[in-house]
Amino acid sequence: MDTIYSKLTKCHEAVRAITSFKPEIALVLGSGLGGYADEIDVEDAIDYSEIEGFPVSTVPGHKGRFVFGRVAGAPVVVMQGRVHYYEGYPIGDVVLPIRLMGMLGAKSLFLTNAVGAINRTFAVGGFMSIRDHILYGVPSPLIGPNIDELGTRFPDMSSVYDAGLRGAIAEAAGAIGVEIYDGVYIQTSGPNFETPAEIRAYESLGADVVGMSTACEAVAARHMGMRVCGISCISNMAAGISKTPLTHDEVQEMADKAAPRFKALVTESIKRIGG
Ligand code: HPA
Repeated sequence: MDTIYSKLTKCHEAVRAITSFKPEIALVLGSGLGGYADEIDVEDAIDYSEIEGFPVSTVPGHKGRFVFGRVAGAPVVVMQGRVHYYEGYPIGDVVLPIRLMGMLGAKSLFLTNAVGAINRTFAVGGFMSIRDHILYGVPSPLIGPNIDELGTRFPDMSSVYDAGLRGAIAEAAGAIGVEIYDGVYIQTSGPNFETPAEIRAYESLGADVVGMSTACEAVAARHMGMRVCGISCISNMAAGISKTPLTHDEVQEMADKAAPRFKALVTESIKRIGG
């Protein structure tokens, strides 16, 4: 058995020894959504540190636990805190939690994050539904022996972000009067923010926003046949477009400011996705 899969099955067994909860939707909380637990009728919670072999995030402001419960009646598993490639974990560990949530039964994956806007028509504090992505300078999480138990060696990526789920997000935004853009997310390795020249390059590649997570998670989820959607919260204009140097504090502050609207958007979307 290959090592990633054996680690995954051990983590799966460890979670199943604690809870029998069966989620339909897996939700990954990005910056600013740490307080989303308020929106959940919590049934169970497991700290990542309780799961042997599970990668634990080192980023300030990212709590590390799974919360199991219901949002608008739908059974969800929520990742409060994710791990990033820049923390030094192998890419297989970075996506292990996503695969685990799929193994627990989640059919849909709802990704959230904070991003810098490359598209100059986007405004800080706004949101973007991810239409497609570019994985840039980050290895595919599928490199290595294929895990046949999860999916095929050469999975199709021509429609990673599910049209039905994106429709639910658009409807939710309309219903609560939140404007939402639609666009392409580029994932870089981080942890440094980009140079202005890199941002101009990413713009010419067709990216609207830039971040340091998410796309690799979407690839791992599609490999195992999960439906995927994602919403980005625009915490800053990207380097060279922003007039001031970028800081993690600024990202966190703007994401926190947008949090009430972000929470409402996610909950209204889940109401429409159902479970
Ligand atoms: N670049 C990369 N990641 C980010 C940014 C950014 O400007 N803002 C929030 N996450």
